Amino acid sequence: MSRIKSKNPIVLVPKKGFEELGVRSFEATYRGKIAQGFVVKKNGKFFAYQNLCKHLPVTLDLEDDKFFTHDKAHLQCHMHGAMFELDSGFCVAGPCQGASLNPLELKEEDTRLVIKIPEALFEE
Ligand code: FES
Repeated sequence: MSRIKSKNPIVLVPKKGFEELGVRSFEATYRGKIAQGFVVKKNGKFFAYQNLCKHLPVTLDLEDDKFFTHDKAHLQCHMHGAMFELDSGFCVAGPCQGASLNPLELKEEDTRLVIKIPEALFEE
């Protein structure tokens, strides 16, 4: 599944077809800068994070849209294997153990998720 693109800091993600333990990744462009993020569904709830490892400046999925450990119990950085809790973004193992992914503000509407990316997370 390819990244959802947005031309501003608000990203709209359709809820239709968003399965349990599914993920949608997105990329927003704002004032010539870019931010990446993703949203994951666990126990019927949605959690959105910046798509950026806490250890090195790379995306967790290394651009291939794979965000999970094999058992889908954790999110995983595919560079060095750091593992993060789905519902908190807390890193439980790996080089950045004890750090947390940056959560993104998420509002759930009837048919879509409205995710807001703070301006500070946009980079050249
Ligand atoms: S870059 Fe993510 S764990 Fe090293």
